[in-house]
Amino acid sequence: MERETKPNISYAASYPLSTTILMNREDVHRGHLLLVNASHPVQMLEEQVDLSLVTSAQHVHVLDSTIELEPVCLAHLVALMDVIHASNDIIVVSGYRSQAEQRLIYEGSLRDNGPEYTASYVALPGRSEHQTGLAVDVGERLGEALDFIAPSFPDRGKCLDFKGMAAHYGFVQRYQEGKRAFTGIACEPWHYRYVGTPHAQWMEQLNYCLEEYLEYLKNFEFSGKWLLLDNGGTRSAVYYVRAEVDGATKIPLPVCRNYQISGNNTDGFIVTLYGELTL
Ligand code: DAL
Ligand code: ZN
Repeated sequence: MERETKPNISYAASYPLSTTILMNREDVHRGHLLLVNASHPVQMLEEQVDLSLVTSAQHVHVLDSTIELEPVCLAHLVALMDVIHASNDIIVVSGYRSQAEQRLIYEGSLRDNGPEYTASYVALPGRSEHQTGLAVDVGERLGEALDFIAPSFPDRGKCLDFKGMAAHYGFVQRYQEGKRAFTGIACEPWHYRYVGTPHAQWMEQLNYCLEEYLEYLKNFEFSGKWLLLDNGGTRSAVYYVRAEVDGATKIPLPVCRNYQISGNNTDGFIVTLYGELTL
């Protein structure tokens, strides 16, 4: 499939402040850019996770009709599947998991597959990004039994088209070859994580996993350089704001049409500005 215009990577100087927004300390643990791994557990309470049934998008095949995803993640997954016409070729195998479900999967895998395999492919309960609703496992829909923990998602056909277009819809392959030292998890071609745009494009361009990318973003603060992406006329800018240790954090914002603020689940917030930026 033909790729869209490659984004230009450049850096912008800071921009005049127009307003500030207050974020609470708990907000560090909310948003599309949360880092969840063995050292960074999910902090959101289960009742705080916003979820929609994947079957609400009627043309997406699911392994189980109860599978749910965070609504923005689901909308982008559906748009991605639509643009590559993959609804009959790709199946959603797993989405949101409660901590109890993750524990059942973890203990079942320990019993059936042993500790080495389990440590490679199953996150500890409380430390799975499936618990955020932002992770989705996808498999090739072949009409034969799928491996629930490690579904086949090969580099061919619609699966390859999915991989090629995923970043444009805000998804990254979360666990790539060569990144286990950062992620703690072996290569998982089937596990996609919604981080949104332009972050997925940045991660792809820089070949950074989420651990590396969130660390890199700390180089871009409001008062310094910002990370600027010009993708065929659509502009975005990104900067990091460290959270106050106690109490609310003031997030500085420039004049812009659209913005998003996400916690990183550790120590701060990522601000993303979209569109009509005179940077
Ligand atoms: N398969 C991923 C690592 C999980 O269990 O969350
Ligand atoms: Zn997964």
